[in-house]
Amino acid sequence: MPRMKADTRRKIRVTLNGRTMSGYAEPRLLLSDFLRHELGATGTHVGCEHGVCGACTVRLDGDAVRSCLTLAVQADGRKIDTVEGLAGEDGALSVLQKAFRRNHALQCGFCTPGILMSLEDYLSRHPKPSERELREMLSGHLCRCTGYSTIVRAAVEAAKQLESGQHDV
Ligand code: FES
Ligand code: FES
Repeated sequence: MPRMKADTRRKIRVTLNGRTMSGYAEPRLLLSDFLRHELGATGTHVGCEHGVCGACTVRLDGDAVRSCLTLAVQADGRKIDTVEGLAGEDGALSVLQKAFRRNHALQCGFCTPGILMSLEDYLSRHPKPSERELREMLSGHLCRCTGYSTIVRAAVEAAKQLESGQHDV
């Protein structure tokens, strides 16, 4: 009689964009795959799957992390924020999202969720970044469409608005 394979999955509980959710993960399952396939949060994109492109960036307890370099089990009991949580309950876009829209800072949009989550974290810690600092921070993300200038423009604009408390532009 064939031996049954042991079920090594673990239950993982997270607070995803303010909501308590749970799912099952094998010990080696990546957080990016857990979010997308187990919790259905497909806003987080997966590009290189080895930490280079930044498309999979989410915030784990407030820190921007590459979800393709994080195991789902490492997120157990923690708070995760993804691009789906940026807009308000009423669907109103965040300051950063509006700046991206105004400045045409995306084309295919594949890299955008990760860039937004990195910028959300960065701007919460660096309220007055220079353009050079923003360029340096954005160098951790790969975008194949925009040439980056519109992304930089949107980031500079959002930083100024957030700094001045102008949230409804
Ligand atoms: S998919 Fe994670 S860094 Fe590229
Ligand atoms: S908008 Fe297409 S990869 Fe960045």
